[in-house]
Amino acid sequence: MRIRPAKFVHVVYRTRRFEEMLQWYKTVFGAKVQYQNSALAFLTYDDEHHRFAFANMAVLQPEGTETNKLGVIGVDHVAYTYASLRDLLETYVRLKERRILPYWCIHHGVTVSMYYADPDGNQMEFQVDSFGTNEETNAYMHGPHFSANPIGVEYDADVWLARLRAGVPASEFLTQHIDEPISPIRVAEMKV
Ligand SMILES: [Fe+2]
Repeated sequence: MRIRPAKFVHVVYRTRRFEEMLQWYKTVFGAKVQYQNSALAFLTYDDEHHRFAFANMAVLQPEGTETNKLGVIGVDHVAYTYASLRDLLETYVRLKERRILPYWCIHHGVTVSMYYADPDGNQMEFQVDSFGTNEETNAYMHGPHFSANPIGVEYDADVWLARLRAGVPASEFLTQHIDEPISPIRVAEMKV
């Protein structure tokens, strides 16, 4: 049986109008800030831990100047949540057999995620929630671990898969035990 995502969950934008963008999404969607620093912001309008995130390119890539150029500014990725870590990793296996590989395997703390790019280079995140309840996720996003590392720690999907298949419980992987090293934000390599 084909595993499918359980739900579509969020979109992340790159912007050089950080404050203006946050204000617009607060006004239009009634969104509230879950977490914000100078480089990143996570907003939600319902019980999902984030529906929008914004990457402040003026901080992340200060040498750049483009305010409008699509591909530099605009949608960074969209995200789908899977029902379980097993579903996420079995999807990884199915896609790997078709030579479709993630360009970034990252434990974000709030989610365990794999990022893929479609043939046009559109980026998407396949994820599973780390916590069983929104209350736990919200608490984590407002706590010290998330502010210490709001990006996450990379992992090896093949190593995890082997351990999961050997009987290590999913909870062992879903709980982020370390905050470091902080991963760089990775993007798909653009095809020419
Ligand atoms: Fe995301």
